[in-house]
Amino acid sequence: MLNIALPKGRLGEKVYGLFERAGFDCPAIREENRKLFFENEALGLRYFWVKPSDVAIYVERGAADIGVAGKDILLEYAPEVYELLDLGVGKCRMCVAGPKDFYDDMRRTLRVATKFSHIATEYYASLGRDIDVIPLNGSIELAPILGLSDVIVDIVETGATLRENDLAVLETIVPISARLIANKASYAFQNERIEAVVQGLAQEVQK
Ligand code: PRP
Repeated sequence: MLNIALPKGRLGEKVYGLFERAGFDCPAIREENRKLFFENEALGLRYFWVKPSDVAIYVERGAADIGVAGKDILLEYAPEVYELLDLGVGKCRMCVAGPKDFYDDMRRTLRVATKFSHIATEYYASLGRDIDVIPLNGSIELAPILGLSDVIVDIVETGATLRENDLAVLETIVPISARLIANKASYAFQNERIEAVVQGLAQEVQK
């Protein structure tokens, strides 16, 4: 069995569609239920839905041979996995955002609220800017509104969340999209099978 970890949710549905069209289908997955894993014995495939931010852990530790994770997670946690393919879906960007009229007073330490402490720290270190990271788990946009932080480092997709909260993108740090990743040992021992998936998906991505 080739074990495949997919991110649960809208992105996962889209990503599964790519696998399906590439010939790696598993009809049971389309049945609406709360089941978390699905097998296609004939093809030797087992899919499972995991929280998007957990996919890299399943793959790094070998519970999944391959999986699909956002570039944001790969940059933030730097898991020991191979990144095999940009799937061209789940596109968004990692940004610094804040009040539209934000002015960065260089005499003060900049307070940055984020779910992505590592990315924020690396980004500001590259600019030589001192920051105080305020780690949050969600609704990051509230932080500058309530004065908890000066700016945020977060994902922007449509920009609607920022707009509706009177915030704006101040800087773009890096573009983000979903990536196919592989466990390093699996990639060595199941190379042909995994490469077949990479080739199949690559063709679908180009269409
Ligand atoms: C993400 C991100 C932004 C929002 C951006 O949040 O943290 O809040 O999506 O999308 P937009 O540009 O299309 O508005 P998510 O939905 O993951 O929820 P969270 O607040 O729990 O992080």
